[in-house]
Amino acid sequence: MEPGIENYKLNKDLFGDDFVWGISTAAPQIEGSCDSDGRGKSVWDVFTEIKGKVLNGDKPTTTCDFYNRYRDDITLVKQLNIPNFRFSIAWPRIMPSGTGNVNQAGIDYYNQIINYCLELGIEPWVTIYHWDLPYALEQKGGWTNREIVNWFGNYVRVCADNFGDRVKHWMVMNEPAVFTGAGYFLGIHAPGRTGIKNFLPAIHHSVLCMAAGGKILRERLPDAEIGTTFSCSYIEPYSEKDKDVAAAKRADAMINRLFIEAVSGMGYPDDVSVFKEIENYMLPGDEKLMAFDFDFIGIQNYTREIVKSAFWVPYIGAKLVKAEDRNVPITSMKWEVHAPAIYHAIKQFNAYPQVKKIIITENGAAFPDVVINEVVNDTERLTYLQDHLSQVLRAKNEGCKVAGYFVWTLTDNFEWAEGYHPRFGLIYIDFSTQQRIIKASGHWYGDFLK
Ligand code: GAL
Repeated sequence: MEPGIENYKLNKDLFGDDFVWGISTAAPQIEGSCDSDGRGKSVWDVFTEIKGKVLNGDKPTTTCDFYNRYRDDITLVKQLNIPNFRFSIAWPRIMPSGTGNVNQAGIDYYNQIINYCLELGIEPWVTIYHWDLPYALEQKGGWTNREIVNWFGNYVRVCADNFGDRVKHWMVMNEPAVFTGAGYFLGIHAPGRTGIKNFLPAIHHSVLCMAAGGKILRERLPDAEIGTTFSCSYIEPYSEKDKDVAAAKRADAMINRLFIEAVSGMGYPDDVSVFKEIENYMLPGDEKLMAFDFDFIGIQNYTREIVKSAFWVPYIGAKLVKAEDRNVPITSMKWEVHAPAIYHAIKQFNAYPQVKKIIITENGAAFPDVVINEVVNDTERLTYLQDHLSQVLRAKNEGCKVAGYFVWTLTDNFEWAEGYHPRFGLIYIDFSTQQRIIKASGHWYGDFLK
């Protein structure tokens, strides 16, 4: 057992007055109303129409109807004493075909959200890109087309110019490793492309976009705090054998190091030999264009992975040993519950001198909640959050530059290829009636933040 703070002693004051507390969401998972008010199609709208791509054929067309219920839901954020609300802007709502025309109804919508947050004294934290690429751009090659650096830059300018007078905290991108890996290599997320020839250019172009987006925001909004977010899972080798240790090192390069090192001016890690081929997509001067000094790095951790050597797995020669086969506690996502993972993830990112500040922009868990007499007693989620927070505190007390924590997520919602079955919310949603019930974990977070 690794050390932590005992949960009953957990107290917000231990984190200091400046520590940022919040809750995270993403447009494609909560908004619904995919065809309303001039919104264009996103890659997820199209992907979810393909049979077999999403569990149970679930679609994001309504989800928890945040598009229409945003006032009620932001009021709940207030009721839970949460001072910071992270949400994303849907690119196809703002620019229905991805580039060119700006849809005023989309701008108005996000203005209403931002204004309502500010009216309630809640600070808006905006993610510019949380995976909902306009489908019109995917038809032109999407993330594999270098033109995306211009398309994305224009979109960032529109966001900065329309919302930057009130939004002070920005995240350029959400988890590029996931939307490139799952969407352009494994084909299990939108747009469903596979293969190294899609993956490598998608990686490079998302790095260029992240850095370009950061620069555009800084130029236009010099007082804003600018970050970007990365998925990270603490990696441990299956055994002490050299081959497993080496496999874990390669998996770590792919899962955790790839993007942070690229935007930090360190280039692509050479531990995975295929990353060398990214050079085929680089132009002279790109090294410089890849880097940006973000004010903060958002790290999003849910679990750890145990990695074993597997010579037959192409490019990486490694495989993840499933948590289910390891006889450990798991969530509805089949991810291991292992709180020290977040401590190690913070330590790992903290070690980069280029990282000025770390905010945990997502952490949370899906469990099969049950409603009994209008009450959801989600003790597993509650314990998960407390255990993880105590590990965040452990890292902070050791001097790590971790300065904030956002729970994933406000309400149950559309969990990508897993559809509606994993429930991550602090608030339960009955998807047939749209009734909301604050879970025990939500009440706890609200009391904790009081
Ligand atoms: C992250 C992602 C979120 C959410 C969460 C839980 O990877 O940014 O959108 O789905 O995982 O799986």
